[in-house]
Amino acid sequence: MTPPKDAVLEATQPVKKGSISPADPCTIVIFGASGDLARRKLVPALYGLAAQNCLARRFAIIGFARTPMTDEAFQQTAVESVKKFADANTLRDEECKEFAHALAYVAGEYHDPQAFQNLKKRLEELDQEHKLHGNRLFYLATPPDIYPGIIEQLEKAGLANPPDSKSWTRIIIEKPFGRDLESARKLNQTVLQAFDESQVYRIDHYLGKDTVQNLMVLRFGNGIFEPLWNRNYVDHVQITAAETLGVEQRAAFYETAGATRDMIQSHVLQLTSLVAMEPPAAFDATAVRNEKIKVLQSIRPFTPESIKSDIVRGQYGPGTEPQKSSVVNGYQQEPGVTKNSGTETFVAAKVQVDNWRWAGVPFYLRTGKRLPSRMTEIAIQFRRAPHQVFRGQNISANTLVLNVQPDEGISISFNAKLPGQEMKLKTVTMDFSYQAEFGAGERSAYATLINDCMRGDATLFDRADGVEAAWALVDPILNYFQSNKPKFPNYAAGTWGPNEADELLEHDGRHWRNT
Ligand code: BG6
Repeated sequence: MTPPKDAVLEATQPVKKGSISPADPCTIVIFGASGDLARRKLVPALYGLAAQNCLARRFAIIGFARTPMTDEAFQQTAVESVKKFADANTLRDEECKEFAHALAYVAGEYHDPQAFQNLKKRLEELDQEHKLHGNRLFYLATPPDIYPGIIEQLEKAGLANPPDSKSWTRIIIEKPFGRDLESARKLNQTVLQAFDESQVYRIDHYLGKDTVQNLMVLRFGNGIFEPLWNRNYVDHVQITAAETLGVEQRAAFYETAGATRDMIQSHVLQLTSLVAMEPPAAFDATAVRNEKIKVLQSIRPFTPESIKSDIVRGQYGPGTEPQKSSVVNGYQQEPGVTKNSGTETFVAAKVQVDNWRWAGVPFYLRTGKRLPSRMTEIAIQFRRAPHQVFRGQNISANTLVLNVQPDEGISISFNAKLPGQEMKLKTVTMDFSYQAEFGAGERSAYATLINDCMRGDATLFDRADGVEAAWALVDPILNYFQSNKPKFPNYAAGTWGPNEADELLEHDGRHWRNT
């Protein structure tokens, strides 16, 4: 989107090459400002944008949380989190100081009307002081059970609508958006009573990752891949989101969630939609989201029978920490986890997309904590060459791999002749690496998405019907898990999940790519 005219006129510094463009002047309010998400991701992402002159021409940031704190104390904690978590290449004392000056803090209970009046007053003061044109971005980064209360209070305080016809008010809502279909519907109703859908940005930070966006560029910005992207050429698709970390200090949340809610319903289904979607008419919020939802609607619904045969869940037991070979606790020994917990930390699923493009092509999805390596990748496994000309050679089928993280890039494998007289073949790869090509490390997905929201671009955010479609798919799985207690733990920390996950593919004559 083009920045509005006044923002362009107000530019004092050029936007740095390769960076994203700044938005209208505005105030960003972070609810849950003293929490982990704000500290580790949001504040560093905002700093990163500001340091690249890409946040907004003028801005203020208000932290809102229950913990009593002065502006100065909040500024201090913000600077600490910037120093710890922001991209080291952007760290400069002067810019840190300038950034800290833009931060203010309002303490209050999330259900207290007076606290929201205080917030309103602060917003109006900062608006006047910095000429922010009444533009406001609210970011809900609290535990999800508090969202409805905040939304209600924002509405009651008259903060859900922009103060005048020229300004905007938008709200970013963190995942998880609900904990099942019913609660997601209810939350959508609450949100849409206070805000118009066009003001609502349901965030899934995976969509802000460069390689995830690059998937759309690969498919729709090139002529050679899309003709092959279907059941005639693709044997199956594997999507893996593997983490080496355990549950860390998040047991209170994770015990109520599990891997299916935490990763499959959101990140993994988002990736699936982008792989499987039809070309959108345009690269805009309506067209892209319409196509993504059609994929979710085409996925064959799970039944108790198909869950038994096509879904594997797991929970890590004690084992070794990858790469460090030190012994680590099992999930049930982690702080805050109940003994005999039935919460899954691993899920593998075989998913069928019942449409003309994908009929008969399984999508194998997998996510887990305490796996041997941190890697998120999408692998498109093509069919073998239909006829073996090179007899006696072990020829593998071509694979196109999108490395979402940590080494962002794309690689394609194919067969080549080894040097020499003999006709001997070897599988080789052609690699594109973001780091090597553009010199860019893993960028903050949050920075990309916050900037998009400030510019009013919702393409990479979820719509009400999209979130509900994902929950509709996952609900039967959650219900089944709830009523069929598993035997946990069933995989050792530092391994690729339970044996049944391997068997899921072996049964189909395939295997996971465990790189
Ligand atoms: C979050 C989940 O949404 O994504 C976490 O709640 C998970 O459990 C995280 O660790 C993974 O994100 P990333 O960007 O580190 O792959």
